Amino acid sequence: MFGVSFGEAERLYAKASNIASLKPVGVACHIGSQITDLGPMRAAFAKMRGLVERLRAEGLNVERLDLGGGLGVPYFNQPDPPTPAEYAAMVAQVVGGLGVQLAFEPGRVIAANAGVLLARVLHVHERPEGRRFLVLDAAMNDLIRPAMYEAYHDIRALLPRAGELVAHDVVGPVCETGDTFTRERLLPPLEAGDLVAFMTAGAYGAAMASEYNSRPLAPEVLVKGAEFAVIRQRPSYDEMLERELLPDWQTT
Ligand SMILES: Cc1ncc(COP(=O)(O)O)c(C=O)c1O
Repeated sequence: MFGVSFGEAERLYAKASNIASLKPVGVACHIGSQITDLGPMRAAFAKMRGLVERLRAEGLNVERLDLGGGLGVPYFNQPDPPTPAEYAAMVAQVVGGLGVQLAFEPGRVIAANAGVLLARVLHVHERPEGRRFLVLDAAMNDLIRPAMYEAYHDIRALLPRAGELVAHDVVGPVCETGDTFTRERLLPPLEAGDLVAFMTAGAYGAAMASEYNSRPLAPEVLVKGAEFAVIRQRPSYDEMLERELLPDWQTT
């Protein structure tokens, strides 16, 4: 069962155990994502331990305890969240000796920093009032998180030019105010043709990409040391359009 309140869990587990066609084997919790302090997890896991102990005291079978995901992703230039080793030590302390099979569901902390989105500078547009726009060939369809919930992504120049950092509004080429990755971000001087990387794009990057504005999905490249391979090709416009079918009745 998903999203059961803590208060109800005990009663529902007991109820499910009395239904012949069900065999409850354990309890699970997930308290949120991008948690950068072990405190709330420690408190939640201690409550889960109490729940397991109470269920067992009632004679119910609890073999598995799933502690969910949520461990924060280390972002460049922000305080480091706890490491997986620190997380594991806390888990061992809080639920150690309980005699359950533990399950974990870490997502972002594994995937987020495994991917970057590469983009090329199309042009740098300086406005008379002093604002500087960096227009990229990547857009909100490739990485929707900043437009959707103002997610922060570090942006790095691949071959930074010498010079002072300058505030840039970083935007895509889609004609929408939402096609803005960030405003007034300090970046080294950049010119058309330069490459930049959006860091931490491995979680909710490609998976949330779309063909909005008839933009083919960006290809995906797997890199291992000095080796690399395209593992998902960019579709051509023809391939995108071939998927659009006209029903017979529309032409009559
Ligand atoms: C039940 C459950 N488990 C695990 C996760 C993964 O969380 P994260 O990617 O923050 O580790 C989520 C994310 O929403 C979730 O809902």
